[in-house]
Amino acid sequence: MISSQHMSNTPITTTTGKKVLVSGIKSTGRPHIGNYFGAMKQYVEMQHEYDTRIFIADLHSLTSVQNGSELAQATLDLAIDYIAIGLDPEKVTIFKQSDLPEVTELGWIFNCITTMPYLMRAHSFKDAEAKNKEINVGVFDYPMLMAADILIHNADIVPVGKDQKQHVEFARDTAEKFNRIFRGDGKSCEPENALFKLPDVHIIESVETVPGIDGQKMSKSYNNHIPLFSTDEELKKLVMSIVTDSNGGKPMNVYNMHKLFRDETYLEKLYTKNEGKYKILKEALLEDMIAFIKPLREKREQIAKDPDKVRNILARNGALMREKTHALMYEVRKATGLIV
Ligand code: ADP
Ligand code: TRP
Repeated sequence: MISSQHMSNTPITTTTGKKVLVSGIKSTGRPHIGNYFGAMKQYVEMQHEYDTRIFIADLHSLTSVQNGSELAQATLDLAIDYIAIGLDPEKVTIFKQSDLPEVTELGWIFNCITTMPYLMRAHSFKDAEAKNKEINVGVFDYPMLMAADILIHNADIVPVGKDQKQHVEFARDTAEKFNRIFRGDGKSCEPENALFKLPDVHIIESVETVPGIDGQKMSKSYNNHIPLFSTDEELKKLVMSIVTDSNGGKPMNVYNMHKLFRDETYLEKLYTKNEGKYKILKEALLEDMIAFIKPLREKREQIAKDPDKVRNILARNGALMREKTHALMYEVRKATGLIV
């Protein structure tokens, strides 16, 4: 009997003829304004130009969330969030990483051509080590699963925040290495024989690192974040607790957050006029933030009323992604000797 693997020899192109954009976020809690301005907003802006595939990195989440019901809820919530920020579920493929289980297969193959010293250079691993965290193998291997997430789609572009730049570079290295080993002579690979494209990272310079309420990089893991869908009360509490430097001039932490919501010409005037008046400036930031977040939150509330609709979108798109990546996985298995 011929297995389904052997039946597909469809060329690896997209039916839309558009370039492929891939990105994802872990479902480890509520997304925050750093996630939004650093990454999610770009997905929305670029969604029509590309064949856009945005996933919820639930397998990556397992490196830190180890409670089944919590993870399932956070994953569904993030799917709702994606739609609420303006990703069009009819145009963008929103899916769950674990619904494309071939990424773990591809990740394993990448593990076998990657050395431990190479992975020890990853910032994510070094950070965990510096904090004396007990590091699980999933954290150590994180970049290889991420490389598989990207390369399985033969992505052209990967929009992320600055902290993920190195991971995308690892994906490029891995693509090049696979091509060289399995489609070349070990030293190089003729361009026409390459299986994987080298994906480009896309980072918006002006918002490369959004600060948190303590001035450090905003991150769920530092607990200094402002959730994107916060209530007005939550926003008030968080904005008023922003740590300001006390030199009496322009409070840079407040300003850096404020410039995400307002143009800088307006802000320069506002901050000059209210020099040293931190409370007034924080209140102005709060007002602008509420004006931005409230409509998003209300849209989210509407979408959340029908979670089954969202579950159906995820299920349908998971199946679609398996179908679309099938031809490439066939080539991977053939090149590596997994098909006899
Ligand atoms: P967190 O650090 O809060 O756990 P994630 O690792 O889930 O965030 O990041 C999801 C996306 O958001 C990534 O593309 C990441 O680069 C981006 N991102 C996260 N924090 C920030 C930030 N403070 N500024 C800009 N982009 C960010
Ligand atoms: N590592 C990313 C983060 O922490 C999430 C992620 C997993 C991702 N796989 C990816 C992002 C592939 C872009 C492409 O935010």
